[in-house]
Amino acid sequence: MNLPSRIPLAHLPTPIEPLKRLTAHLGGAEVWIKRDDQTGLAGGGNKTRKLEFLLADAQGQNAKTIITGGAAQSNHCRQTAAAAAKLGFRCIVVLRGDPPPKFTGNILLDDLLGAEIVWTHDKEREEVMQEVFEKEKASGSDPYLIPIGGSNKIGAAAYADAVRELKEQLNSPLLFGDVPNGRGVRGEGFSRICFASSSGGTHAGLTVGAKALMPSTEVLGISVDEPLDVLKNNVARIASETASFLNLPFTFTPDDIHANTDYIGKGYALMGDYERETIRLLASLEGVLIDPVYSGKAFGGMIDLIRKGVIKKEERVLFWHTGGQMALFAYSDQLR
Ligand SMILES: Cc1ncc(COP(=O)(O)O)c(C=O)c1O
Repeated sequence: MNLPSRIPLAHLPTPIEPLKRLTAHLGGAEVWIKRDDQTGLAGGGNKTRKLEFLLADAQGQNAKTIITGGAAQSNHCRQTAAAAAKLGFRCIVVLRGDPPPKFTGNILLDDLLGAEIVWTHDKEREEVMQEVFEKEKASGSDPYLIPIGGSNKIGAAAYADAVRELKEQLNSPLLFGDVPNGRGVRGEGFSRICFASSSGGTHAGLTVGAKALMPSTEVLGISVDEPLDVLKNNVARIASETASFLNLPFTFTPDDIHANTDYIGKGYALMGDYERETIRLLASLEGVLIDPVYSGKAFGGMIDLIRKGVIKKEERVLFWHTGGQMALFAYSDQLR
């Protein structure tokens, strides 16, 4: 893998831990978790890895202003605002909709982190992002535009590299080896990696990394919003571009992508009983927080697949926790 330049921003490697009480509660499969909610940078999450490469690219282009966009409670925008602050970039985040009466969760953090917020009102997000970019360019502020979710070949490269990190952890005697109290999965690995998928960069990067380094592990993205054909098409396209960017001889078609779209529930960012119960279950059994928008849907989906026997009791599976807990507070009224 030929990685592009990166700026260290994340706390890596992120921990990998067995969820013993959850596993006992389910009666198998054996569930482990990779804590990318602990990547650091003002609350952590999957975007911190992507930003190491995206902001190195921005620096390489002598950019001064970072522009990106997302939903109102975007974790991606919050992590971009934090990374921009740390590296001395100006940051503009384009958030969908109108400003709420009260700033909570990620919106509050965007503001604290010094990002300028532009609301789309009733316009399309990509259109407003492009408008902001053109305006900043015309005014000479050297803008760099990061797509929604940081999901292009540069951002996704980070998740191809994250598979290398996981593989090293599995082979590390200190973490998993034959030492007293060692956790004992050394070298054996996981049958599947499950995680929340949306704009597709994490999904694409993990798919490329696993094809190169862990070909017997299935990379199963659980959609939080996109229908199956859209998600598979996006992920296959980004995965092919990422592989070529990393000088790997792979191309991907939608049929090569493993995805499940049964757990979108009421829709993007909408919480129902299923997300609420999943959040409480993991919090009460393991002390691990997940969110209603991403990990709550994906973790609940994984548990349901285990209960239905699609994921077999004998399997050892990894949930890749992509973060999102900062949004929990924006849902406080619906969580109790
Ligand atoms: C917490 C969390 N999990 C998962 C995702 C999905 O990642 P991707 O956009 O790479 O599909 C996001 C994206 O915003 C996120 O914030």
